[in-house]
Amino acid sequence: MNKKREFDVIIWGATGFTGRLVAEHYLKQYGVGGKLKWAMAGRNQIKLEQIRSKLGDESIPLIVADSHDKESLNDLVKRATVICTTVGPYARYGNELVAACVEHGTDYCDLAGETQWIRRMVDQHHEAAQESGSRIVHCCGFDSIPSDMGTYFIQREAKKSFGEYCQQVKMRLKSASGGFSGGTIASMDNVMLEASKDPAIMKMLFNPYGLNPLGETSGPDKADLQSVKYDNDAGVWIMPFIMAAINTRVVRRSHALNDYPYGKSFQYDEAMISGKGLSGRLKGYTGLAFLAALMAGKPGSLYSKVKHRFLPEPGEGPSKEEREKGFFNFTVIGKFIDGEVIEAKVTGDRDPGYGSTSKMLGESAACLALDKQSSPKVSGILTPSTAMGDALLVRLESNAGLSFSIV
Ligand SMILES: NC(=O)c1ccc[n+]([C@@H]2O[C@H](COP(=O)([O-])OP(=O)(O)OC[C@H]3O[C@@H](n4cnc5c(N)ncnc54)[C@H](OP(=O)(O)O)[C@@H]3O)[C@@H](O)[C@H]2O)c1
Repeated sequence: MNKKREFDVIIWGATGFTGRLVAEHYLKQYGVGGKLKWAMAGRNQIKLEQIRSKLGDESIPLIVADSHDKESLNDLVKRATVICTTVGPYARYGNELVAACVEHGTDYCDLAGETQWIRRMVDQHHEAAQESGSRIVHCCGFDSIPSDMGTYFIQREAKKSFGEYCQQVKMRLKSASGGFSGGTIASMDNVMLEASKDPAIMKMLFNPYGLNPLGETSGPDKADLQSVKYDNDAGVWIMPFIMAAINTRVVRRSHALNDYPYGKSFQYDEAMISGKGLSGRLKGYTGLAFLAALMAGKPGSLYSKVKHRFLPEPGEGPSKEEREKGFFNFTVIGKFIDGEVIEAKVTGDRDPGYGSTSKMLGESAACLALDKQSSPKVSGILTPSTAMGDALLVRLESNAGLSFSIV
């Protein structure tokens, strides 16, 4: 148990596009100096002051540190119960911060979707974090909270109502509206760059169990969907979902960390619903072509450079109006061993990547800081559901605009 520290949560990266939104959410939800003691941190005092002025509350505490200055990071992590970081690409800026949190028993959450970096954090720090009592929770945004908590939710309800867990869960993105930020594009580029240089990283990225504990990196699930196909259980055409590459690994890690409560034959997959009938099928092929265009082009190639002229730069992202008009809607299908099916719904009231993500991340940090008593008694490199379970579900529904329901 952490001794009481100066702040419950420090938002690290508060000058960036997403960090600013987390601060905005905190100001609205918790105020300053109230139940949740929080501060904004970044590498540039002037920029921090400008953001604070825009937020309109000069009493928000500010802290200056740098990702690559070990001493400043140690000072930072010793002042807070939880570091909530949006400083990415994490593979470039996150190593020293995770190491400092683990060393000082500080809890941590982020928005990393960079599977190869999370694997490194697991290998380097899981055991040390278990010893220091630090809870390191990656993927607390659109990837991978709806997937991880949606699976946790449908399995909890299945067990409660039918006395058994589903043997298979299918997560289907039914509809969503939003956009990308420059920070996310930079992170995706960095994953591709690292994978193009190192075949071991490429192999890990293609392993469906790539984030499982070592020695447990196999199971019944196959590669993520790569084509358009008909899903009999959902009665619709489906196409690949770009976030499946990280979300499915997180859900499988959760299952492994909990010692396989759904059984070793449990299967999980993700896809996007493209629709019914011929139009659904055609929409699937159009979506597939768009995805191929987005992912094509080696980092640094001419195609990649041209593509980036149409994409946002770091610090940029969807407008307030786009975020407020945005939403997401998942259908979750759970199948029991006898073929019976239950269905759940997971929805968000803002655009997935920023409006909703900033609230999910902020509430994950608040949950780590304030709900330790009602959370699982675990530490290590964790996932949202294994670190916070029911306590996080309550916060997501009360304060982050998410809903989880059985249909
Ligand atoms: N998983 C999800 O659902 C999801 C959604 C959104 C974003 N993300 C991820 O979140 C991350 C941030 O995205 P974003 O769009 O907010 O990016 P961004 O606007 O580029 O912000 C990056 C932040 O990192 C800070 N930074 C950079 N180098 C630093 C250093 N050496 N020391 C301290 N701070 C440093 C920047 O500070 P300055 O302002 O001083 O440059 C800025 O505050 C990305 O990795 C992105 O992939 C994930």
